[in-house]
Amino acid sequence: MVVRKAVLPVAGMGTRFLPATKATPKEMLPIVDRPVIQYVVEEAVAAGLSDVLFVTGRAKRALEDHFDYNGELEKMLQERNDLEKLSAVRGPAQLAQIHYARQGTPAGLGHAVLCAKAHVGDETFAVLLGDEIIPAENNVLQQMFSVLATHGGSVLLLKRVPKTEISRYGVAAVKPTTDENIVEITDLVEKPDPADAPSDLAVLGRYVLNPAIFGILENTKPGKGGEIQLTDALKVLANSTDPKVGKVHGLIYEGERFDTGEIFGYMTTVVELATRRSDIGTEFKSWLTNFVKGF
Ligand code: G1P
Repeated sequence: MVVRKAVLPVAGMGTRFLPATKATPKEMLPIVDRPVIQYVVEEAVAAGLSDVLFVTGRAKRALEDHFDYNGELEKMLQERNDLEKLSAVRGPAQLAQIHYARQGTPAGLGHAVLCAKAHVGDETFAVLLGDEIIPAENNVLQQMFSVLATHGGSVLLLKRVPKTEISRYGVAAVKPTTDENIVEITDLVEKPDPADAPSDLAVLGRYVLNPAIFGILENTKPGKGGEIQLTDALKVLANSTDPKVGKVHGLIYEGERFDTGEIFGYMTTVVELATRRSDIGTEFKSWLTNFVKGF
């Protein structure tokens, strides 16, 4: 089974970054010289996902323009013969087939995924949260597809997190499989109190989902925070006994992940990724070294 479609929910209001996100989508905040969302789309494309659906909302025009052509700017760069910038400007528009669905009311992540139903149809698809960057070279989605090839059903990405951070995530109860990095998911709780967390395995923002999730989401009542939670629907999916729907497995990931969805994570992502750049990295590291000496 080849997964072709990626769904990227990007309708969030970005309240943690106000006032920066008053008129600019949070997914458009730059990490050095590319918006966060471009890293996420590049990761999807590197994993062979050629069809990208953004589930957008109000005030996301900048994001739509970013993944489109800009004739005027391209003409100017062409006239100046600045081919490097021309290619950087055209790049996002050429990455994938980009589509949009609108989430009229921001009623939660589950509701955002449900807005993709008509576009996705009856295919297994991927969901990538637009504020998490996972380096494309870590091949996380490809590894999730290989779990799908072995076990069928749906696949979540899990990471062990300290108790102090567990209430920021969906948390899974699991059963082991013969592979120590792959578990079968038996239950899920959205953002539990640390005392109620069923494990230390947090759900990260990459999902490979059987389309049966849509029918479940249609019947999912608002949960934590009054929102329709994807986690609540995944819990039902995990307990399905329909062989066509399959089970839900989790791939335990120990590699890097950058959470740009809150200010501290955003700042550390900018610094870390800047130090890795081939153009400014060396100079930036040397400046940074001197800078911290002053503390
Ligand atoms: C969402 C999900 C949560 C998941 C998290 C991963 O929460 O609801 O289950 O663990 O993404 O980042 P959010 O961070 O959007 O509040």
